[in-house]
Amino acid sequence: MIVAIDGPAGSGKGTVAKIISNKLGLVNLDTGVAYRCVAVKVLDNNLEIDDEVEIPKLLDNMNIEFKKENDIEKVFLNGIDVTERIRTKEVTNIVSEVSRIVPLRIRVTDLLRKMAEGKDVVMEGRDITTYVFPNAEIKIYLDAKIEERAKRRYKENIEKGIEMSYEEVLENVIRRDKNDKNKKVGALKIADDAIVVDTTEKTISQVADEVEKIIYSRK
Ligand code: DC
Repeated sequence: MIVAIDGPAGSGKGTVAKIISNKLGLVNLDTGVAYRCVAVKVLDNNLEIDDEVEIPKLLDNMNIEFKKENDIEKVFLNGIDVTERIRTKEVTNIVSEVSRIVPLRIRVTDLLRKMAEGKDVVMEGRDITTYVFPNAEIKIYLDAKIEERAKRRYKENIEKGIEMSYEEVLENVIRRDKNDKNKKVGALKIADDAIVVDTTEKTISQVADEVEKIIYSRK
C-alpha cells in the first residue's frame, strides 16, 4: 500500500506522515530529504546550482540511510549524520532550485520507487501523488495559508536553533512555493483524485486523525 502525501513547505505533511506511519506501522519516506542530500553535495562540491550535467551524477556516489537512534529519526549520507545539516539555511536556500533539474528528478524518482518496493509506505513530498506514484491507493494534498506555513517553519527553526527572522522564512517559503509549482517535471499540483485537507486552522493531531480516516475509508 502506498499512502502518497503532497503539499507545500509547512503544510504539516512531514509531521503527519510520521504520526500516521508510527500508528499504522508503515514505512515513512520523506522525499525532500533526498533533494536536501543532493543540495549538501552541491555545496560540498562547489557546483553551480543549475549544473544539469554534474548534479545528476552526484547520485552515483550517494547512499542515503534513515536510522532511528534513541527514538530520533536520523539521516545518514554516505555514513555521515546529516540530520541537522540538511535543515540549515544554506541548504534550504538552494534545495528548491537544485530540484528543478529534470535529469536529477528522473534519477531521484527511480530511487524513491526502489525504496518503496515491496513495502507499505507513507511517502510525502511535492510530486508523489502526480509523478512518483500516480497510481497510489491513497492520495492526499495538505495545504495551509502561506502566513501560517511560514509561522510553523519559523517556530520549528527556533526549536532547532536555526536563526532566521520570520520575514526571511516567509520570503523563503514564497520563493520555494513559486519554484516548486513551476517545475517542468514533478511540479507541485493537486492530483485530480487527491483529497485536499486545509490544515490552517487545525492542530497536528486533528489533521492526523482526518488523514487516518481517509486511509481507512479508501482501503
Ligand atoms: O519537503 P522539503 O521542504 O524538505 O523539500 C525540500 C525541497 O525539495 C522542496 O523545496 C522541493 C524539493 N522536493 C521536490 O522537488 N520533490 C519532492 N517530492 C520533495 C521535495
